[in-house]
Amino acid sequence: MNNIGVLVSGGGTNLQAIIDKIHFGPCDAQIRCVISNAPNVYALTRAKTANIPGQVIQHGQFSSRSEFENALIDAMDIFDVDMVLLAGFMRVLEKTFIARYRGRILNIHPSLLPDFPGLHTHQRALDAGADRHGCSVHFATTELDGGPVILQASVPVLSNDDAESLAARVLEQEHIIYPMCVEWLCEGKIHFQDGDAYFEQQRLEHPLQLDAL
Ligand code: GRF
Repeated sequence: MNNIGVLVSGGGTNLQAIIDKIHFGPCDAQIRCVISNAPNVYALTRAKTANIPGQVIQHGQFSSRSEFENALIDAMDIFDVDMVLLAGFMRVLEKTFIARYRGRILNIHPSLLPDFPGLHTHQRALDAGADRHGCSVHFATTELDGGPVILQASVPVLSNDDAESLAARVLEQEHIIYPMCVEWLCEGKIHFQDGDAYFEQQRLEHPLQLDAL
């Protein structure tokens, strides 16, 4: 069994997509806990509705990043978590945490990495005049949005797009590719090795593209 811990900071739509994927299966996994670094976020409501233990561990209550990360690890150890999904989680995780779950941490980022790591990706794509934009699922490493990318989905940038309309179109794709990658990791179809992502034991020179699967 894959015991999943999900870290969230906001609305939790990616959490919901993963809950639905696991609930309607088949996916040999169980979401054992949801942890938010911020209180009163809708992701925790989604967890409660799905009868998944949820809790808040606020980064500001710790004197250092490593103390915060150790609190996250201690909380997930209670649930025997062995796979971590970052789903709208807005904190950078450092080597303590990454080393603990090495190769078993996924993140979803709303851009076609390596373009636009960091924040405000949709506005940045518009400002750059990009004609396509999208989202990426990658293994999380200590490099912000820098881990090896597994799967991407892209959408056209429309002439009348603003950041909100573009974000909404990208988010729809996030809810497709993230659950797919979670299932692949649960099945052992993907793995992380020496800094690279592997799909069916083949090293990925480039991210897989949803529309090419
Ligand atoms: C999404 O765009 C996700 O890519 C980014 O945070 C946003 C909100 O995610 N990491 P969610 O609705 O909280 O899952």
